[in-house]
Amino acid sequence: MSEFIIAPSILSADFARLGEEVDQVIAAGADWVHFDVMDNHYVPNLTIGPMVCKALRNHGVNAPIDVHLMVSPVDRLIGDFVEAGASMITFHPEGSEHIDRSLQLIKDAGLKAGLVFNPATPLHHLDYVMDRIDMILIMSVNPGFGGQSFIPSALDKLREARQRIEASGRDIRLEVDGGVKVDNIREIAQAGADAFVAGSAIFNASDYAGVIQDMRAELAR
Ligand code: DX5
Ligand code: ZN
Repeated sequence: MSEFIIAPSILSADFARLGEEVDQVIAAGADWVHFDVMDNHYVPNLTIGPMVCKALRNHGVNAPIDVHLMVSPVDRLIGDFVEAGASMITFHPEGSEHIDRSLQLIKDAGLKAGLVFNPATPLHHLDYVMDRIDMILIMSVNPGFGGQSFIPSALDKLREARQRIEASGRDIRLEVDGGVKVDNIREIAQAGADAFVAGSAIFNASDYAGVIQDMRAELAR
């Protein structure tokens, strides 16, 4: 597993035209659709849930849908997102009372599962689950809003997560979320990330394909 994944966060898309926006960003070369679920409890914002995921599938979206749960509790939404056509689900350890059980619920449904780490959350929650997770998501902003600036300490955390992945010998995606732009993506990749969420950088631009191409050019440089 070495190719880089670009995962536009639809948080910054035009929700009034969401199906069209997702079609456009996939046509522009995106790999995954990053789907931010916020509950106004775990994070101070309220977004979209399983019905919208299902609507995108019904609209004809075939790309992997990468569901990022910023909710507490976690477990009761997992089944709904499985039904709705999610491809992978990540959640924050602070949001789940039983992290191992939440991971197992996702895995039992046949989806890829991962944990998300806020800027000040240490990686020790990985200690006993590295044998089962498929992805690690490092937050490079505090969760809740698009358009924030990349927090530099995420680079050290990415390096530490990359070391843990290498030590495990497993194929685990290392995703980064928050403040990813054309001008910092290369440095972030050098710290070990191989999947890049980008919301405002892509959706606030007029030429989605141009931004995605520029990101890939930076990654190939
Ligand atoms: C933040 C979300 C991110 C966000 C990224 O809580 O998890 O996915 O939309 O947006 P940008 O790329 O604008 O920082
Ligand atoms: Zn996200």
